[in-house]
Amino acid sequence: MAIHNRSHYNHALMSINKMRKEHTFKHKTSTDFASPGRPMLCLNIMDCCEFLKTIPDGSIQLICIDPPYNLALAGWDIYDDYIEWASKWLDEAYRVLSKNGSMVIFGGIQFRDAKSGDLIDIIHHVRHHTKFKLINTIIWRYKNGMSAHRYFANRHEEIIWLTRSNDYYFDLDSVREPYAEKDLAAALKDKRLNPENTMKGKNPTNVWEINRLNGNSKERVGHPTQKPVEIIERLVRALSYPGSVVLDFFAGSRTVGRVCITEGRHCLLCDRDSASIEYFNKHLALMRKMGQPTDYEPIDSTEDFFTKLEGAYPHEGETAI
Ligand SMILES: C[S@@+](CC[C@H](N)C(=O)[O-])C[C@H]1O[C@@H](n2cnc3c(N)ncnc32)[C@H](O)[C@@H]1O
Repeated sequence: MAIHNRSHYNHALMSINKMRKEHTFKHKTSTDFASPGRPMLCLNIMDCCEFLKTIPDGSIQLICIDPPYNLALAGWDIYDDYIEWASKWLDEAYRVLSKNGSMVIFGGIQFRDAKSGDLIDIIHHVRHHTKFKLINTIIWRYKNGMSAHRYFANRHEEIIWLTRSNDYYFDLDSVREPYAEKDLAAALKDKRLNPENTMKGKNPTNVWEINRLNGNSKERVGHPTQKPVEIIERLVRALSYPGSVVLDFFAGSRTVGRVCITEGRHCLLCDRDSASIEYFNKHLALMRKMGQPTDYEPIDSTEDFFTKLEGAYPHEGETAI
């Protein structure tokens, strides 16, 4: 397969292809990859199932989605047969994910009377009707939330992490949490711990305490279910690498796109609501205000996107170089 002569991509492509050939992804960290230069972003307004059909097999490193939870929070959040609908995008997601790729799905559990499909049904479906492997359930715990009087007030949501194989890319070092000074001294004396890893910080575990965005949060761009940048950053850093492709087909305000710009990942986004464009412009304005990089290469279609990346993500069974 020919590689286009685009010098700012080629260095990254060569290192990625070399690792793919050597099957060494398992033990790599983001520092092993060259920066992609200007990340490409392809922003689409359409139905996710139609959009997914335009994506080649095995071409995506990370799928990071925050689908409708089926809680009737908005018109887009109501499905009569949630699993029948979700199974369509889950099957397509499996097809487009690379062998060392990951998919993360935000979700919640419906309590009380509602029995119309939620994350539990997605997990059940994934277990019994797909080849995905479930690696972790991450508990996203927050201190801020609605009050309740007839039950314990809810203070968590879940994120499930799925892969296609056991040879998935995972860069723990990029998301380790630093020890407090006094804990570090104790951890370095602990014979069960590897001092080299201890110096890099702690495994953040699968319980993440990160507050939800309050109505008056400075990060807010207006989307009713906008997710905090901090969570998306952790997922993007740990499960994708510079120059790889991240996909979010329920993009909302495009928080995932925002993080891909700062983290140097190429990004494919889709949402059927055109308000997504305005929300993203607000993200960019906030990023400028914070002095963050906002430079990206806008790409009109998935076809152009993959033509530009040709060679970096060979279809299964093909060799790039
Ligand atoms: C939970 S929100 C995502 C919020 C996003 N994570 C953020 O940080 O802004 C889900 C999004 O999915 C979109 N959506 C719902 N059904 C869809 C469909 N069939 N195809 C594409 N987008 C859809 C909605 O318009 C909504 O913006």
